[in-house]
Amino acid sequence: MKEKRTGFATRLGAIAATVGSAVGLGNIWRFPYQAGENGGGAYILVYLICVVLLGIPIMMSEFIIGRSTHKSMKGAIQELTPGSPFKIFSYVGVLGALLICGYYSVVCGWVIEYLWNSADGTLLGHTPEQYSDMFESLVGTPQRCVLWTLLFLFLNFLVLSRGIQKGVERMANIMMPLLFILLIVFCINSLMLTGSMKGMDFLFNPKFEELGWKGVVDAMGQAFMSLSLGVTCLITYSSYFKDDSRLMKDAVTISALDTLVAILAGIVIFPAVFSFGLEPNAGPKLIFEILPTIFQQMPGGMVWSILFFVLLFFASITSTISLSEIPITFMVDEYKISRGKALIITAVFMTIVAVLSALSFSTLSGVKLFEKNIFDFLDYVGPNIFMLLGGLVTAIYVGWFLKKEVIHNQLTNGGKYRSGFVQPYIIFCLRFIAPIAIIIIFLYYTGVF
Ligand code: PFF
Repeated sequence: MKEKRTGFATRLGAIAATVGSAVGLGNIWRFPYQAGENGGGAYILVYLICVVLLGIPIMMSEFIIGRSTHKSMKGAIQELTPGSPFKIFSYVGVLGALLICGYYSVVCGWVIEYLWNSADGTLLGHTPEQYSDMFESLVGTPQRCVLWTLLFLFLNFLVLSRGIQKGVERMANIMMPLLFILLIVFCINSLMLTGSMKGMDFLFNPKFEELGWKGVVDAMGQAFMSLSLGVTCLITYSSYFKDDSRLMKDAVTISALDTLVAILAGIVIFPAVFSFGLEPNAGPKLIFEILPTIFQQMPGGMVWSILFFVLLFFASITSTISLSEIPITFMVDEYKISRGKALIITAVFMTIVAVLSALSFSTLSGVKLFEKNIFDFLDYVGPNIFMLLGGLVTAIYVGWFLKKEVIHNQLTNGGKYRSGFVQPYIIFCLRFIAPIAIIIIFLYYTGVF
């Protein structure tokens, strides 16, 4: 049954919206800082393996669930396998999305401050140490940090309440390729810096002794974060896909593009890190320290910097829109409340999480959860627990419980295309590789090894 649904994306724009969801701060802010903290090359290798063995199969699973029913997770599972307890996990997705979007908005707030400072001319012209201090001063000043975060959330919910996501997505369709081109320009610039090859060595020469279990967990969580997996986002988005869209091709293309953007971001950042004699393991502040240093040595640095932060803003807002849609669509579909009400409830919850996260470097820096401040805790738990758990459930559900015909019909569009080795490959990954890999990670959390 195809319900008529009003929502964020037109059927036509749904694939573009999915790319918009995938490409964001996860690729440009989180991937480089995580790679830097985990020794570079070996982390990236594990990351790539996770994309191929877990990411693409789980992305296809979410697409299969969403497109076959045109419903969000709970309704979809009820339709595909009536009475199945798996639908309970839609709550995990909703909670995960609320928490992730909360702390993610804080980073979006930082992006706005950097955009503002680029435009008023105060960003450039400092030493790398001063950039580090600038960042510390931003996150250490509660008013500034909270204000930018609230401004970002306001814009996010304004777009959602006006139903102008389509417009934003259309803008993003222009902005994304531009961001891509800009990253290539920055890559060339970084590669021309003296000492850049040390950065390339760091990125592409795996040193497994620096990885450890922490690196493996981080790489896996990052693959899920970057591809927007495990929180039902892609189920919701693919519920708007047209029946003739090609799920296998789309999942591979989206994953490849997303991974490419992350790698390009790495090639922009690390040659510069080594060339300027900075530390790769600076943590969440990494790009905010390096990028201004890069821009200011480029001719026309101010223009590059404004352009970059504008594009990054668009890449980020298309991701937060998709995160916000998860609870909104869920409440509308499940509790039959109006979209407006669902939006307000989502906005209130996210704002609370965001403000707490924004304050975690200043007023609330003393509040620790498992030895981490609130922001760092959410940045860990969101991808490494919520998304992995959601991914595990999706893999088991589609791999073991969903009828083979549904999978086959979705992958081949009712037999129109051949699925070749793809279907057995993804079923194998979903049945065995993903559950075993994710369960090992959860055992690691319990301290078994
Ligand atoms: N994939 C986005 C990024 O890399 O920035 C973040 C994200 C969006 C995660 C949507 C989860 C999600 F549902």
